Amino acid sequence: MKNPAYFGLDFGTSNSTLSIADGANAHLIALEGAAVTLPSTVFWPDDRSPLSFGRAAMDTYLQGEEGRLLRGLKSTLGSALYAEKTLLGGRMIGFATVIEAFFAHLKTHLDRARADRPLGGIVLGRPVHFHDGDAAADARAEAALAEIARSLGFDHVAFQLEPIAAAMTYEAGISGEELVLIVDIGGGTSDFSILRLSPTRARAADRSGDILATGGVRVGGTDFDRALSLDMVMPTLGYKATTKGGAGLMPNHYFLDLATWHKINALYVPRVAADIKAMRHEIDRPELLDRFARVIAEKSGHALAMRVEAAKIAISDAEAARIMLTDLTGGPNPMATQSAFSDSAAPLLAKIKVTMLDTLSRAGLAPAGIGTVFLTGGAAHMPALRALVADVFKAGHITTGDMLGSVGAGLAHEAQRRFG
Ligand SMILES: Nc1ncnc2c1ncn2[C@@H]1O[C@H](COP(=O)(O)OP(=O)(O)OP(=O)(O)O)[C@@H](O)[C@H]1O
Ligand SMILES: [Mg+2]
Repeated sequence: MKNPAYFGLDFGTSNSTLSIADGANAHLIALEGAAVTLPSTVFWPDDRSPLSFGRAAMDTYLQGEEGRLLRGLKSTLGSALYAEKTLLGGRMIGFATVIEAFFAHLKTHLDRARADRPLGGIVLGRPVHFHDGDAAADARAEAALAEIARSLGFDHVAFQLEPIAAAMTYEAGISGEELVLIVDIGGGTSDFSILRLSPTRARAADRSGDILATGGVRVGGTDFDRALSLDMVMPTLGYKATTKGGAGLMPNHYFLDLATWHKINALYVPRVAADIKAMRHEIDRPELLDRFARVIAEKSGHALAMRVEAAKIAISDAEAARIMLTDLTGGPNPMATQSAFSDSAAPLLAKIKVTMLDTLSRAGLAPAGIGTVFLTGGAAHMPALRALVADVFKAGHITTGDMLGSVGAGLAHEAQRRFG
């Protein structure tokens, strides 16, 4: 019989990767053309035509096909929303089914990669905490992922913390011993680990003694999107607008939902449209709410969120960028600037910093005790985040690697180690 194949699956809030162990090595599997990352996105058409995934899902949605785009699926794990059902393709469907469909799609790539080798086992990544300070929700989130994996025929399923998997990837490229802090700023969570790494230690079966501390907080790139949206975009749609000649303020919740990736679809129901119509008589500037109503009617909430995200990414490399909205809202194209964004982002960055310092102190270390800071995850591109890290650690000690693939490769190594 052929040797079994061992896999790692990094199901990210924004991007996923799949990796396969090759003896001592592991590599990422191409998931969409030559790309080894697949945006964690599903397009569920209204008719019975096939689902699409990743970039193709986003393209299908942007081309105006009738259906729903689902993004930020991981954020629903362990939450009350996970049990709720939405109308998808004419049926009431829950998030478990959507995530299962996404995993089933990934499994087609996995099956192609293993060819005729038997399925040896799979290690799924998980953040240090899916939810802050809620162990029960954390356990529900992990159990939900395990159940989905088993329903797809994986008999051997294990989990590894994402920042430990990233550490294993980093370790594969070093030549001596280093005390490393992994900083993984993803789409949904910021995760930290402190480990003693070396090529010799890498060969040990049990690494638990090398892990000095782990920590994490439910703050990631999607929260920065939300902050930018609430400060720059939602006010152009009526958020915080006055009502009754200045006597009142618009209720917040619909704007908060529209700024939150995984809650956008919940707005596409008749009740919301009716509420907006009623509120139109209260708001002092009804034209603002008309823009909101248009976004809901045209189901362009995800397109709007993508424009916000694009501007957020653009200002990582430029002082300012316009958030292009006119074609979606009929309103202005607000200018996002790095300096205004750092104000919007400050409370989120503060949470990341507190969690990072807490992880250090639980390892019994001062910043000077860390040999290398390995920065990874897409949101680690943000200049304000880099400034935060540079403020705590000495410049020569900070390094970066593959920002989107470092967790995935480490997971396949782990699968080989555990099941091989
Ligand atoms: N240049 C950039 N500047 C700012 N943010 C960026 C940049 N590039 C990517 N991002 C953000 O990084 C996030 C995605 O990062 P990543 O793919 O590491 O997350 P993930 O692994 O899917 O999420 P998680 O690990 O939290 O579940 C998104 O919010 C994206 O907008
Ligand atoms: Mg990640």
